[in-house]
Amino acid sequence: MPGPPLAQAGPLVERLRRPDARITVLTGAGVSAASGVPTFRGADGLWKNFRPETLATAEAFGRDPKLVWEWYAWRRLRIASCEPNDAHRVLADWSRRFPRFQLITQNVDGLHERAFAKVTDRSAAAEATARRAPDASGVIRLHGSIWEVLCWRGCAASPPRWRDETVPFKEIPPRCLHCGDLIRPGVVWFGEPLDPEIVGAATEAADCDVFITAGTSAVVYPAAGFIDIARRKGAYTVEINPEATPATGTVDLALRRGAEVVFAELNRGL
Ligand code: OAD
Repeated sequence: MPGPPLAQAGPLVERLRRPDARITVLTGAGVSAASGVPTFRGADGLWKNFRPETLATAEAFGRDPKLVWEWYAWRRLRIASCEPNDAHRVLADWSRRFPRFQLITQNVDGLHERAFAKVTDRSAAAEATARRAPDASGVIRLHGSIWEVLCWRGCAASPPRWRDETVPFKEIPPRCLHCGDLIRPGVVWFGEPLDPEIVGAATEAADCDVFITAGTSAVVYPAAGFIDIARRKGAYTVEINPEATPATGTVDLALRRGAEVVFAELNRGL
């Protein structure tokens, strides 16, 4: 049985309290589980009932855009009724509290961004940090956003991508406002490269003093590799996950509880 969340967390708390600590947190689907957003792997994970190759590749979209969009429209509907939980709220608070804080996420649900948007009084240093993130959300989003779309054909009249929070769509598959052709979700699909600017920002953020990986099964790269970079750069590494992952044996501290519980406890202990 795991002990109370903070029983072994003394060295982490001590490091978080250092005024100049560079703190980086990498999150995955498990951080949104307590909000009601399904994870991908595990007993109730999306990939138990759906096959990634029929729903999350460019080939699948080319073959059957209606089927792919039905799945994304269903997920958008579900996420739209979810609220950020304590993990999202504490991390948003840390973006204000810690002058050198970076958040990298694999999540496309937008819950971090919603929690961040409520933080209006960030310190000047945290603002500068947020500006270094590749977009205005202040979050380094490795896999894009389910709330963004782009023209499937990349028509010249449309921007590279744009926000669209329509739930539900009037027509599936939805169409490009500029050329009338299809639009696609603004997420990274299997087999697609990540934006090099975003990977660059995440790699830079992995050069830190404390690196926390939370709610990720640590099997999808390059995200799963950032903790190795952080370790090589001398960071104190922490995993927050109720289950063991390939990263568990490599970290300085593994906290085997839900992220919403651990972040709330850590925050109270600071
Ligand atoms: P996964 O679904 O692979 O893993 C979720 C992890 O969260 C598991 O290790 C769970 O044990 C853990 N977990 C569950 N509840 C938790 C809680 N309350 N607190 C903390 N952890 C909890 O999700 P990711 O690792 O994010 O890719 O998946 C990585 C990528 O694979 C996703 O970004 C997605 C997917 O295919 C794309 O969309 C490109």
